[in-house]
Amino acid sequence: MPTADFVTGLKCRVCGKLYPKSPSNYCPDDWGPLEVAYDYDRARGAISREKIARRPRTMWRYRELLPLDGEPTVGPQVGGTPLIRADRLADALGIERLWIKNDAVNFPTLSFKDRVVSVALSKAREFGMRTVGCASTGNLANSVAALSASAGLETFILVPADLERTKIYGTAVYGAKVIGVTGTYDEVNRLCSQIADKYKWGMVNVNLRAFYAEGSKSMGFEIAEDLGWRFPQHVVCPMAGGALIGKIHKAFTELHAVGLVDAPVTTKMYGAQAAGCNPITDCVKANRERHKPVRKPNTICKSLAIGDPADGYFAAKLIRETGGWAEDVTDEEIVEGMLLLARTEGVFAETAGGTTVAVTKKLLDQGRLPRDEEIVICVTGNGLKTQDAVFDALDAPAVIKPSLAEFERLAGVAAEPALA
Ligand SMILES: Cc1ncc(COP(=O)(O)O)c(C=O)c1O
Ligand SMILES: [Zn+2]
Repeated sequence: MPTADFVTGLKCRVCGKLYPKSPSNYCPDDWGPLEVAYDYDRARGAISREKIARRPRTMWRYRELLPLDGEPTVGPQVGGTPLIRADRLADALGIERLWIKNDAVNFPTLSFKDRVVSVALSKAREFGMRTVGCASTGNLANSVAALSASAGLETFILVPADLERTKIYGTAVYGAKVIGVTGTYDEVNRLCSQIADKYKWGMVNVNLRAFYAEGSKSMGFEIAEDLGWRFPQHVVCPMAGGALIGKIHKAFTELHAVGLVDAPVTTKMYGAQAAGCNPITDCVKANRERHKPVRKPNTICKSLAIGDPADGYFAAKLIRETGGWAEDVTDEEIVEGMLLLARTEGVFAETAGGTTVAVTKKLLDQGRLPRDEEIVICVTGNGLKTQDAVFDALDAPAVIKPSLAEFERLAGVAAEPALA
């Protein structure tokens, strides 16, 4: 079944000029970032709740609002992750209605990045590219490596050399060429831009960024559909480059624009970062128009450690305009957040999830988030990738002989009297 293409072009987010679809991410007039634009009036006539309901539960059930010319050729099974009613975590936080959007179980590499990468690599193939890659803080590396392997593309992946081992090996295993760069993520990203410019390869978060970022909208589409085609009052979202938070909101506005949700969007957006790399939360809290880059990020939450976020300006603006807020938390609070989520809901999230839970708690304590309204927390990556973060906070298991008496002593249960 061919995908109806409702994309009108790439629109500059600064001057609004429309460009044809191509692997470019900046407006040459003012260096404004480009964003995919759609003809919502035409899309409105082509899409319906019933049509969507008949499709498989993957991100591609919203294909009219994603930027491919044809069928997805990379990652056709991505998305469709659970929205969990989190009553035990809600009790622990002293709130009434809480949901977790759990992308820690996204296929194939256990983070929301599979959504953006399947769009970017499908698009790379539409552009006829054979070599792809990215600059990454870890999750993107895993996802580009896995999905490009499944598509038989040649892949170069650049990461900061001090990244968690699990994320480096979880990339190399797929056969991608992984290159550790001695520098911060921002330095890695600059090198990646030079490579994309010179060789015209498909660097998913550089020259394919406009298409790539659209994939994040599918998280927002799924949240609204799973709530029964309505929007939550509050969404708390982790921020690194600052794209995801904006795309979840863009997804909501599009669902309204094409008539899938009648009520207009009134959702307040809240951003979460680590205190050791907080350019966007600092920008919001200090009421600055533009963020101040963090030169040397220093946090256990490496997946969010982008010191100079590409979408920082737009994320801060959105948070202000929707009436939300932003906060950052210490590494200790991040670990507490990971344990709280695991122990109340059985969800083992990576450090970014711990950050989001801890920020939610902080915003509730500050009275910035109301306790009696509906909140959705976005959990975007899996704890199995950042196990070192919780290692020191956990007791080593007790060791006993294979004896019932020893077990009973340890478990503190009374020994049964022996039968006569
Ligand atoms: C687990 C996780 N959550 C959230 C984000 C933030 O996404 P964005 O860069 O779109 O703000 C990232 C980005 O790397 C991530 O790895
Ligand atoms: Zn422009």
